[in-house]
Amino acid sequence: MENKQLVNKFTELFGQKPTGQYFSPGRINLIGEHTDYNGGHVFPASITYGTQGVAAPREDDQVLVYSTNFEDLGIISFSINELDYDKKANWANYVKGMILKLKEAGFVIDHGFELLVEGTIPNGAGLSSSASLELLVGIVLEDLFDLDIDRLELVQTGKKVENEFIGVNSGIMDQFAIGFGEVDQAILLDTNTLKYEMVPVKLDGYAVVIMNTNKRRELAESKYNERRSECEEALKRLQTKLPIHSLGDLDEDTFEANIDLIGDDTLIRRARHAVTENQRTLKAKAELEQGNLEAFGQLLNDSHHSLRHDYEVTGIELDTLVDAAQDQSGVLGARMTGAGFGGCAIAVVKEDAVPTFKENVHDRYLEVVGYEPEFYVAHIGSGTTKI
Ligand code: GLA
Repeated sequence: MENKQLVNKFTELFGQKPTGQYFSPGRINLIGEHTDYNGGHVFPASITYGTQGVAAPREDDQVLVYSTNFEDLGIISFSINELDYDKKANWANYVKGMILKLKEAGFVIDHGFELLVEGTIPNGAGLSSSASLELLVGIVLEDLFDLDIDRLELVQTGKKVENEFIGVNSGIMDQFAIGFGEVDQAILLDTNTLKYEMVPVKLDGYAVVIMNTNKRRELAESKYNERRSECEEALKRLQTKLPIHSLGDLDEDTFEANIDLIGDDTLIRRARHAVTENQRTLKAKAELEQGNLEAFGQLLNDSHHSLRHDYEVTGIELDTLVDAAQDQSGVLGARMTGAGFGGCAIAVVKEDAVPTFKENVHDRYLEVVGYEPEFYVAHIGSGTTKI
């Protein structure tokens, strides 16, 4: 699957041929939302939309990077010895961050390189273009510098870059899904132990349709952090009596029997989402495995309901898309995917109903929200890899 165009572009930009080609996917999350920082389970899958890269080593200390998605920025360059976060470096900060964090972990990165990337993940759609790029850079470095990095360490390095270098306080789900993804498989990950299980996604004539709100996720970051602290506070109050490490340790009955310990309606609803969503994720995995697609779809609907009313991370755009999707014939279930506040939702739709589905959902969304959504059929592809 050599990408000749990208190779030619690289040669034109840097005056030498690339020595390696790489791919890193985006991700969808089937179910298990806002559970990864609550010690719960997630159930994501890597998709064929992603980030392609071609690279070659240099002898000096300069790193030169170029993205066809940000042509206006041209070639961005920096030295491997100057790895401070720099606003002007824009997307190249992810490259800087990965080099820095791997160096800090003791890996030897002692000369420069050139890297050309091209992303096919719709911009700002909440399908993890940044984690995709982090892992892409990780595998490029692994290859160019002959580093022997355990895949889990690479995944955790991506998260570290996001948390400590970029300053986004996200969980492990995105990097894990991207680093460990496999064709036609979803990953049931226990974020508490990092134990995981690959689960075949057999949808028997149904497709997963990604629905993009095209809404800019302006408030996403501050609201995301607010939800995190609300869950931490609820946990702290529960821990005054219960011997638990995270909300993921609780079943629904124990939780409901102890809500008085929390004593605040908002905090109770936030924690209730974390607890019930974790349980739904385990059920959804079992239903999918047994081919009970209707039950699987219903759990997706329930997940959205909880994210909308208890966790309050949806908004008119996601709710309109999901309501419209759930109303169509041939739909088993629909829910938002990712952080929320815009971004994308997914729907499980009978394959031959997809064209009508798109038309109807599109029209309803346009009427209510005033601009157009976009639709893509998701194919579950491989995790980050050298091509
Ligand atoms: C974002 C974060 C993930 C996860 C989801 C919500 O995608 O990056 O770590 O918390 O939101 O499930």
